[in-house]
Amino acid sequence: MTDVPRDLLEQITQLENLFTVDTEKLKKITDHFVTELDKGLSKAGGSIPMNCTWVLDWPTGKEKGSFLALDMGGTNLRVAEITLDGKRGFDVTQSKYQIPNSLKTGTAEQLWDYVSDCLHKFLLSSCEDELKEPTEVCLGFTFSYPATQNAINHGVLQTWTKGFDISGVEGHDVVEQLGEALAKKNIPIKVTSVINDTTGTLCASNYVDPQTKMGIIFGTGCNAAYYEKVKNIPKLEGRLPSDIGPEDDMAINCEWGAFDNEHYILPYTTWDLKIDAESPRPGQQAFEKLIAGVYLGEIFRLVLVDLYNDGFLFEGKNIKSLETPNFLDASFLAQIEDDPWENLTETEILFVNKLDIATTESERKLIRRLAELIGTRSARLSACGVAAIAKKAGYTSCHAGADGSVFNKYPHFKARGAQALKEIFDWEMSDPKDYPIKVVPAEDGSGVGAALIAALTDARVSKGLSVGAKDQ
Ligand code: BGC
Repeated sequence: MTDVPRDLLEQITQLENLFTVDTEKLKKITDHFVTELDKGLSKAGGSIPMNCTWVLDWPTGKEKGSFLALDMGGTNLRVAEITLDGKRGFDVTQSKYQIPNSLKTGTAEQLWDYVSDCLHKFLLSSCEDELKEPTEVCLGFTFSYPATQNAINHGVLQTWTKGFDISGVEGHDVVEQLGEALAKKNIPIKVTSVINDTTGTLCASNYVDPQTKMGIIFGTGCNAAYYEKVKNIPKLEGRLPSDIGPEDDMAINCEWGAFDNEHYILPYTTWDLKIDAESPRPGQQAFEKLIAGVYLGEIFRLVLVDLYNDGFLFEGKNIKSLETPNFLDASFLAQIEDDPWENLTETEILFVNKLDIATTESERKLIRRLAELIGTRSARLSACGVAAIAKKAGYTSCHAGADGSVFNKYPHFKARGAQALKEIFDWEMSDPKDYPIKVVPAEDGSGVGAALIAALTDARVSKGLSVGAKDQ
C-alpha cells in the first residue's frame, strides 16, 4: 500500500492491532471455552447455557416418512413438508416468508398470529390431502433461540437474541403459545417437537454423513450443538427417567453465543462495546456479537463513522446514511471483500449507490482492509468454538456440519476458519483437505433435521421410551 498517505496507513495499522487475533490468543480462548462448556453442564451453570434437548438418539439413516416442519430463524420463516426416504435421502417442498421488521419488536400475539397464518397458507397450498383427514398434522418446530427444555415438545425462551425483542415470549413455553394461536384459528396442527437449528443441523448432517459430530450455524446468529454422554451432564442429576442411562447420548444445544458474557477473555474493541451497550440485551451474547452476521455490518459502520469524525475519511462529505444505525449488513462487507479490481472499482460503486459517498482509492484500501479484518476475526474466533467442542468431547478427527449465510456466502470464511483450527491444534499438514477436523457444508438442519427429530421422537414414543425429564 505504498501509495496510501501516511495518516491512513497509521490508521490501518491501528485497526490491524485491534482486530487481529494471533495463534497464542486463539489457544487461550479455546482452553477457556472448554472450561466454560463444562461449567454450562454443571449444576451451578455458567454463561454458556448448554441446553439439554432431549434428543437422545443418533439418526440411523433408515428414518422414513413425511413430516411438516416450521423454521423460525433470524430473517425468514420457512414452512416445509419433508419426506425422508429411509436411505439417507430426502425430498423437500417449502415456502419462505420474510419475518417483517415490525414483528421483531412487536408482541407475542402478533408473532404467533403471523406464524400460524403462514402455516395455514402452506397447509392450504401444499398439504390439501392432510387437511381432509380428521386428525391433526404433526409439526416439528425449529425455534432458533435459546430455550430451556424439560421435554422434546417443550421450550421456554431464555432470552431473545439476534436483535429480536418481542414482548411476552421470554420465560414462556413457545410450544404452548404457538399451540394456542393455532387452536384459536382452528388450524389442525399439533407441535410434537421443538428443536434448535444447530441440533437439526447436527442430525441432518449426521443422517447423510455419519462422520458429522457437530452442527454449527454461522449466520445471522451463531451457535453449535453436539452429543454429550448423559453421565457428563451433572445438571440432569435427579431428573432422569429410569430408561435414560449414564452412557446414553443427548444432543446439547450449546448456545455458545453467550460465551464470555463476563468479558474475561475476548478481544473487545470500543465498537464491540458500543454495539453491546446499544443492543436490546446488553451484557448477553458477547461471543455472538463479535462474529455473527447480524453484527458484522454494524461493527464496520461504527469504525467508519469514527474515522470520519476524527478527520481521516470522507472529508467534507455528507455521510447521513452511514450514520444510520444498522444501515449495513454482512453482505455489504462480503461484496467489498469480493471486489476483484486493484483500484477497488466495485467498492467505489457500492459506496456511491448504497451510501452516496464518493471515495478516493486510498480510502477504499482502508475500507477493504477493515472488511478483511472484521471478516477474519469472525472466522478465527468461530474456530475457537469448534476446537473447544472437539476438545471437550474428545474428537480428534470428525466433520462439523455448518450452515448459515456467513458460512455459505462470506468470502474466505471457510478457509480462514480452517487456518485458525490448524493453528490451534498445531497441525502440520499443509493441505486443508487433510486436516483431521473439517467444517463442511451441512444439510438443511431446520427442515430435514426437524423431520428427522420428529421421526426419532415418534420411534421413541412408540417404544414407550421417555422424551423428557421425569418431573414432566
Ligand atoms: C441463537 C441460537 C441459534 C443461533 C443461530 C443465536 O442467536 O441464540 O439459538 O442457534 O443464533 O441461528
